[in-house]
Amino acid sequence: MKQEKWSSEFGFLMAAAGSAVGLGNIWKFPYIAGQNGGAVFIIIYLLLMLVLGVPVLLSEMAIGRSTGKNPVDACRAISKKCGFIGGFGIMGAFVILAYYCVIGGWIIKYLTSFLLGSRIDSAAEYFSDFTSGSVSPLIYALVFIAVCGTIVLRGVSGGIEKISRIFMPALIFMMLLLIVKALTLEGGADGIKFFLLPDFSHISSIGDFFRILINAMGQVFFSLSLGMGTLITYGAYLDKSASMTRAAVYIPMIDFVIALLAGLMVLPAVFAYDIPPQAGSGMIFIALPQVFGEISGGRIFGAVFFLLVLFAAITSAISLLEVLISFVVQKTGIGRKISAAVCSLAVFAAGIPVSLSFGRWSGISLFGMNFFDLMNFISDNLLMPLGALGICLLCGYIWGAKSVADEADIKSGASRALYRIVIRYAAPVMIAVIFVTTLLGL
Ligand code: PHE
Repeated sequence: MKQEKWSSEFGFLMAAAGSAVGLGNIWKFPYIAGQNGGAVFIIIYLLLMLVLGVPVLLSEMAIGRSTGKNPVDACRAISKKCGFIGGFGIMGAFVILAYYCVIGGWIIKYLTSFLLGSRIDSAAEYFSDFTSGSVSPLIYALVFIAVCGTIVLRGVSGGIEKISRIFMPALIFMMLLLIVKALTLEGGADGIKFFLLPDFSHISSIGDFFRILINAMGQVFFSLSLGMGTLITYGAYLDKSASMTRAAVYIPMIDFVIALLAGLMVLPAVFAYDIPPQAGSGMIFIALPQVFGEISGGRIFGAVFFLLVLFAAITSAISLLEVLISFVVQKTGIGRKISAAVCSLAVFAAGIPVSLSFGRWSGISLFGMNFFDLMNFISDNLLMPLGALGICLLCGYIWGAKSVADEADIKSGASRALYRIVIRYAAPVMIAVIFVTTLLGL
């Protein structure tokens, strides 16, 4: 079997940042921040990103690089009984992909609508008419997963790395343009206030505080692609000479900046058009077409914007698909091509109930959630924290904080000590408390 490798450290960095920056930043962050008190949420999010996100990120990369294996075998290589920790990742990657491909399909739909100049008179109606359909959203989801499958099939340096290098600068540039436009909308400033000025009245009880904490933690893991084996898989293709500490600084930084830019872009429009900031998963699909409808050249802006969001979604989806494929290839010995096809189809099949839950199956609920919410809950609130908790315990107690710090080349004594405290005590305790609280349904 050919051993996959990144062609350079920069290529790895872009691919890992490409995995991190995705729908989580552009589609999810603005509405989760909106639902959880805006700026208060951002502060908690930033703190959790530093305290929990960075150490877990480093640990995952170190596990991947030192073992060179897929998540299950990598964890097993460290301790025979711990393969299941990687197993959380494989399951999580599958669950996320199932709904990621549905939203990815929506993006392709909007991209083609702007390209073809379709009229979007009432954005909210247009959105619900499309998403509640039984066939068309599924076709778009299939196109999305087929594109991802095709890229992944070309291997790591040829497919994943090439795509990731181009899109990031283009995405940032386009977002800045749209922010300038969004700020000039009447009433847009309220959105910025909501987004950036802390309003502590959102935390009126301990229950509120925990709710924000849980959502912020879920979002940190989701946005940095943690607990899902992605960075173990990507780390496995990383050369020994590459600097992981540099990656652990750049990836969260790029990820956070893009999430902030997304909020600055979306929330002014949300306020200007009187959309409740709690609007949820349809927010960017409802708010932004109205902005594009008002500006000159809006059709082109719209098309370019959705193209970039599509890129962001693709570079994340391929990192998840790579987790599944590397696992199937290493476990069964079947080739990359067949694995890519099998995994893509399986993901699509799981996406079908998710897509239908916006229309025909909207009445069906399990544990009080429709399929879409259920998948979100399983990945963000169950598998990701469990995966991340497993990584902390594996690195902190079994492999040992010292060995991880050596592999990650953390040099300064203070950073090593900090890493040790976080990975052994702070992170596991926080994750466990938040996890139990979620289960108790606080
Ligand atoms: N980080 C991606 C995003 O923000 C989603 C993702 C999660 C990708 C987990 C890989 C693994 O959209």
